[in-house]
Amino acid sequence: MYSDKVMEHFMNPRNVGEIENADAIGQVGNPRCGDIMKMYLKIENEVIVDVKFKTFGCGSAIATSSMATEMIKGKTIKEALALTNRAVADALDGLPPVKMHCSVLAEQAVKSAIYDYAKKNDLYFEELEGFD
Ligand code: FES
Ligand code: FES
Repeated sequence: MYSDKVMEHFMNPRNVGEIENADAIGQVGNPRCGDIMKMYLKIENEVIVDVKFKTFGCGSAIATSSMATEMIKGKTIKEALALTNRAVADALDGLPPVKMHCSVLAEQAVKSAIYDYAKKNDLYFEELEGFD
């Protein structure tokens, strides 16, 4: 049911933890399953130089947050904003259909953290239009 990559990221999640003095923190939850994801970013010159996450949730939520952190590390904010849940799921060689919402949580956690950064620094990103 789960791909080897999903299992591997679930067993060995990358970038787990917190960043002290993070430049941005995002948190999202899914009210239906109750899972919560928190993401910390360190940003220098618009580049995400470090990222850590904590996920209280299912295996797919852990695997997708792990993969999402790998995909945005070293990227610009703009590039990170373009990350879709589908891209995260594809990078994991797919997720079972009932688990696709877990990848949505990962995409939203990234956006939530960047939203926090934008608010603190008075920046505007059209990708975050309507995000709250
Ligand atoms: Fe049980 Fe997500 S629904 S951990
Ligand atoms: Fe809800 Fe995975 S079951 S995030």
